[in-house]
Amino acid sequence: MQDLDSIVSQALSEFDSIHEAAHLEQAKARYLGKSGVVTERLKTLGGLPPDARKEAGALINQAKQRLEQALEARRAALKQAALEAKLREEALDVTLPGRGLGLGGLHPVTRTLDRIEAIFRSTGFEVADGPEIETDFHNFTALNTPENHPARSMHDTFYIEGNAGVLLRTHTSPIQVRYMQAHVARHRAQMDAGQTMPAIKIIAPGRVYRVDSDATHSPMFHQVEGLWIAEDVSFAGLKGVFTDFLRQFFEKPNMRTRFRPSFFPFTEPSAEIDMSCVFCDDGDGPKGCRVCSHTGWLEIAGSGMVHPNVLAHCGIDAERYIGFAFGMGPDRLTMLRYGVNDLRLFFDGDLRFLSQFR
Ligand code: PHE
Repeated sequence: MQDLDSIVSQALSEFDSIHEAAHLEQAKARYLGKSGVVTERLKTLGGLPPDARKEAGALINQAKQRLEQALEARRAALKQAALEAKLREEALDVTLPGRGLGLGGLHPVTRTLDRIEAIFRSTGFEVADGPEIETDFHNFTALNTPENHPARSMHDTFYIEGNAGVLLRTHTSPIQVRYMQAHVARHRAQMDAGQTMPAIKIIAPGRVYRVDSDATHSPMFHQVEGLWIAEDVSFAGLKGVFTDFLRQFFEKPNMRTRFRPSFFPFTEPSAEIDMSCVFCDDGDGPKGCRVCSHTGWLEIAGSGMVHPNVLAHCGIDAERYIGFAFGMGPDRLTMLRYGVNDLRLFFDGDLRFLSQFR
């Protein structure tokens, strides 16, 4: 029969060579389990004389205890090793540079709108707002463009199906109609008492819609219109206000403007506003370049004195009050300011383009 010491040393070296907890428990069963080697040895005690039995029993128990201790130590060692492996596997290098959050920025057209608003606010204009889904009345009729008026074909309008008289506004002028109506209602009592209506001095920025799409036209684009109504407003005032605005916007104090006779149903007289080309006029007059088609001038806005019919539609006495209005395209202003040659870039949502304006 194998002696106890060699059983113990065999078991100990076996335990040490095991690297998995489950295998360790199997090894334990082989020695200390129901029919394990050491357990079998205990069963032989009964066949020994009582004196020898006591001594042998004590030795076997000692051996058992040594094995239990060794098992316990090995279990702990395996557990520790497993933990260390796991930590190694899941290690984070906190010194690596972060991936970073994408930095957002304002859209170039938003930058332009903010800039336009700031310039006009600084000279006392209020910023007005209105709905993008409009009624035929606010978008056309009140602006002296009755049904079948040829001027309606100047705007390729999106109509809302199944809703007669509802459309996507084709310009921001309906904001001005709404503002004039609300202004008159607000000051009704005052005016009925013979007092002068406080001046209307607003700009109306916003999105507008027309059936049109190419490198310089998008079915959705932006407009900013201005309106100044009082007892003593003049065409000279319009020229001054708008020229001053352009000079501030483009930071070109010597920029020139030119007013060409034109037609709009809601203004009379009407004028198209050209500005000297921002690319070839460096202060002493435009030279002509590709951007301005070698004319030296860029068409930038429509304008005129508010038509009496428009004032009447909004409840303003056209005999007493007079006003001017202008309307421009901030998308085009943005293209000129940043040198962008395709309007569609503004609305494609391509970050390679947009992130350049952060
Ligand atoms: N609302 C006009 C348009 O979109 C622009 C404009 C505004 C012209 C004010 C004159 C005066 O065509």
